[in-house]
Formats: sequence, C-alpha cells, structure tokens
Amino acid sequence: MHFTVEAQSFAKPYLTAGSIAVDATCGNGFDTLFLAEQVGRSGLVYGVDIQSRAIETVRAKLLEAGTLPQCRLVVGSHSQLNAMIEPEHVGGVSVVMFNLGYLPLGDKSIVTKPETTLAGLDQAFEMLLPGGFLSVLAYPGHPGGREESQCVADWIAKHTDELQSQRFQDPRNSNSPVLWALTKLAKGPIRLHASAE
Ligand SMILES: C[S@@+](CC[C@H](N)C(=O)[O-])C[C@H]1O[C@@H](n2cnc3c(N)ncnc32)[C@H](O)[C@@H]1O
Repeated sequence: MHFTVEAQSFAKPYLTAGSIAVDATCGNGFDTLFLAEQVGRSGLVYGVDIQSRAIETVRAKLLEAGTLPQCRLVVGSHSQLNAMIEPEHVGGVSVVMFNLGYLPLGDKSIVTKPETTLAGLDQAFEMLLPGGFLSVLAYPGHPGGREESQCVADWIAKHTDELQSQRFQDPRNSNSPVLWALTKLAKGPIRLHASAE
C-alpha cells in the first residue's frame, strides 16, 4: 500500500470543481497539486507549511502545472489555521489533508509535533463541511513519531460521536505509516420526514 496515494484516492470522491480544500503540510506539494487539480479554477486550495523553502517548491510545482491561480500558499504552522482561512470558508471546506513527519530529503529537525498537530486537527475539523473528509498520515517509525501517532489516535477516540474513521497500517510492521481516513458526521439528530400517502 502506498499510503500517500491511498490518502488521495480516499479524498477524491469528496472533491469537485469549486470545492475548498486544505493541505495542512504542503512539503513537496504532491497533495497540494492533487487538490488543486480536483477543485479547478473555480475552487480554492489553502496550502500551509512551516518552511518557506517548501512553500517555494510547491509554488514552482503549481506554476508549472498551471494550477497556481486556485491556490493560496501560506508559510506558517497549521496550529494557526484559523488565522489563515477566510472566515466565510469555515464550515465549508470539503477536504483537509495532514501528512505528518518531516520532509523527505529535507531537514529532519523540522518535524510535526503533537501539540501543534492536535491544535491543527481541532481547527481543521471545525472548518470541514458536515460530510467532509480529513486524512491524517502519521509515521511511528521516526523519533517522536510513535507518540504523535498515539496522540492522533487519542484525538480520534475523543471525537467518535462526530466522525466516522478508518485506520490502515501494514499489520506486519508496527513502524509502518498509519493512515486515518475520517469523515465528519452531520451534527444533531437525523430528522425523519413523514411522507403523505
Ligand atoms: C511529510 S512532509 C509533507 C509531504 C507533503 N504532503 C508532500 O506531498 O510532499 C511534512 C511537512 O510538514 C511540515 N511541517 C512541520 N511542522 C509543521 C507545522 N506545525 N505546520 C505546518 N507544516 C509543518 C514540514 O515542513 C514538512 O514539509
């Protein structure tokens, strides 16, 4: 299983032309580009990364693909998502993707941390449409990664009433990445409509 590809396949049905999406960890921009292609010129993708070098790489990638116009790239922490997203888009986001850890071939000391990840997840969840999709890809194999992965699992367990979750991991390897595919449930009771006979 290639987890990054799987995360995109899970997200795809939730996206259409005009959707709003968030890549909370742009890195090299593979997810940002994927989201931008799905939402088209009428949509909007917010792309966030704490490293300005990553954001510049992503900008070049999107420019080359012709998808930069529908993207807003921000250098900063996803723990500040609330300040980055237009207020009118809160509650209207179709997909948020988190790919945790460090940038492959990059500076391994710049890595996602439980506290900021959890703050980002809280804010991302608020931003999602009811029925929207959140993917989290975590890496227990690097130092601090197992603790972060456990924090994500605990965060999901706290929200079981509000989301539907699926978890994927190679059962033969406890160090393998963990992918969570999460759908935000609509709040409140389901109303049954009586139909006139
Ligand atoms: C595994 S990489 C993401 C790969 C990316 N999805 C791609 O398609 O190439 C993780 C990224 O998270 C970024 N990051 C670390 N802490 C962050 C934070 N608090 N907020 C936003 N991005 C962060 C790192 O700079 C790194 O680029």
